[in-house]
Amino acid sequence: MNDMSVNSTSEHLRDAKRAPREAAGLAPISRIEIVPLDPVVEPSLPMIMAHDPSDPRHEAMCALRTELLLRREFADRAEIIVLLSPCRGEGRSLLAAHLAIAVARTGCPTLLVDADFRHPRQHELFGTHRDQGLSEAIAAGERPRLRTVYGHPRLSLLTAGELAGDPLFCLSSLCFKLMVDDWRENFGFVVIDTAPVAQFSEGLVIADLVGRVLVLSRAQHTPYRQMQDMLRRLTVTRSQIQGAVLSHF
Ligand SMILES: Nc1ncnc2c1ncn2[C@@H]1O[C@H](COP(=O)(O)OP(=O)(O)OP(=O)(O)O)[C@@H](O)[C@H]1O
Ligand SMILES: [Mg+2]
Repeated sequence: MNDMSVNSTSEHLRDAKRAPREAAGLAPISRIEIVPLDPVVEPSLPMIMAHDPSDPRHEAMCALRTELLLRREFADRAEIIVLLSPCRGEGRSLLAAHLAIAVARTGCPTLLVDADFRHPRQHELFGTHRDQGLSEAIAAGERPRLRTVYGHPRLSLLTAGELAGDPLFCLSSLCFKLMVDDWRENFGFVVIDTAPVAQFSEGLVIADLVGRVLVLSRAQHTPYRQMQDMLRRLTVTRSQIQGAVLSHF
């Protein structure tokens, strides 16, 4: 598929496209549609989209990056964005990885955080270990160990870690809040990957903490009601939706 627009009459797709716009009272939303991305990311095989300007996927990701950077709240502090979607398998993790790479390629010091303790995936995408990540740092009350990413000198990765525990409790902790404050001072852009909001509440807690949200829905997959419910639940957080992405894959 190489078309950025969609004409399908599928109800799911119509629902997925409609949902983010219908959240009354939210800030204006820009919707960006993403065509299929490369499913596998390896350090030795960097993602095409983020590297090949002639690839149409490059345009979509650049547009998303530009929109988000233009909407930055402060020039001298990191823009911290949490990526939310209602259901499993909607492409949050892959989009978070692509977006982080795209921003890092502008020279902006960027951090990608895997805060999905339910199904952590960033370590797999970047071909590294999951341990000694966010959960361990929160448990120890220490600064987390950030990994460098081969081929992307401005990108740091914080894996989810391996400690079992209550994810909601961890991500609601003062320690996590202090980490976020630290990232705000020391990075230009931070992308946080989370668990699906319809099943777990961590995404809303993080949205409330960082204040900036990117909403993702997947064409012919995300049910309208789930998206509507997520947007309704978001209104009680202190967060703003910075954009909405519709993924086709
Ligand atoms: N834009 C895309 N193009 C092609 N394949 C994709 C895209 N986004 C996701 N995928 C594929 O779909 C699957 C799920 O993607 P991903 O893990 O990013 O979703 P998720 O929303 O984070 O899932 P989970 O709820 O399990 O955390 C993976 O196999 C991934 O490679
Ligand atoms: Mg995921």
